[in-house]
Amino acid sequence: MIRRDFLKSSLLTLPVISSTTASAGKQIAKKPLVVSTWDFGKAANAEAWKILNNKGRALDAIEQGARVTEADESNKTVGYGGYPDRDGRVTLDACIMDEKGNCGSVMCLEYIKHPISVARMVMEKTPHVILVAEGALQFALANGFQKENLLTPDSEQAWKEWLKKSNYSPVMNIENKSYNQKEPDAGFFPGSIDNHDTIGILALDTHGNLSGGCTTSGMAFKMHGRVGDSPVIGAGLFVDSEVGAATSTGVGEEVIKCVGSYLVVEYMRQGNSPREACKKVVERIAKRDPEKAKNIQIGFLAIDIHGNYGAYALQKGFSFAVKSEKEEIVIPGESYFI
Ligand code: GLY
Repeated sequence: MIRRDFLKSSLLTLPVISSTTASAGKQIAKKPLVVSTWDFGKAANAEAWKILNNKGRALDAIEQGARVTEADESNKTVGYGGYPDRDGRVTLDACIMDEKGNCGSVMCLEYIKHPISVARMVMEKTPHVILVAEGALQFALANGFQKENLLTPDSEQAWKEWLKKSNYSPVMNIENKSYNQKEPDAGFFPGSIDNHDTIGILALDTHGNLSGGCTTSGMAFKMHGRVGDSPVIGAGLFVDSEVGAATSTGVGEEVIKCVGSYLVVEYMRQGNSPREACKKVVERIAKRDPEKAKNIQIGFLAIDIHGNYGAYALQKGFSFAVKSEKEEIVIPGESYFI
């Protein structure tokens, strides 16, 4: 069964889940919990769960979970095997944030399979938050990471196919033909069912610590040096231990413009459930530029400190994976456009 059919059939059997509004002090915390973007989040959650179920720290669970997706050669939008940029270079972005609000990020990092681990090292071993490009690579190599070729034959082939039609004009979303259409190029649309982009992963451990991570190879065949929302703290990821955590997937430019994940957390701070908070940010994006919103995909995923979770996307096709003591499921995300 191909992946899409598997997802369709597993979604049909899913229970309908609704996330309730968190009312402080009244709910029994549902922890540990880990949630991740897209169907491939299920494998990341399973790895994270090994740590969470052993009363381990959410931050460790995040890193180990994200590494599963980064190492998955079949995933064309994260880590090893990710589609390269227009120049054929695989450049990776990632960030991580712990329960104390510490964070680390790498942008446009080449040759290193696990940018999430480099981001963690930036957070823990330097006085800085962000390292980019050559500097990030230099730091990774100095700290024991191995230099590897991340361009797999499959991804190189896809890039060469793309080059045949490309005139190298740096037009955003030139790859976007039409969301979910079956034409061959539809697969290059970030956030389409054939080209999921980004794993965002959020966890709440048994001790009540929240952490999150986000890692991607970014937009397929992007301009060299282009960085999206994923490694930008507040855009692709935000964690606040008093409230909750959020992450995003989709066309990063639009998420950066509204500091999306931070905004989701702030809406939760005002008393909105994770789902409502995600929905409000999606609505703001749609309101700001209605024409653009019709042709792009963006999804937000959030959890609160009580272990409630929720998500919302612009378009149909977004999904997220949940793992707790009681659940191991992939849930279709609700969307603004039906
Ligand atoms: N959300 C991933 C990116 O825009 O690069």
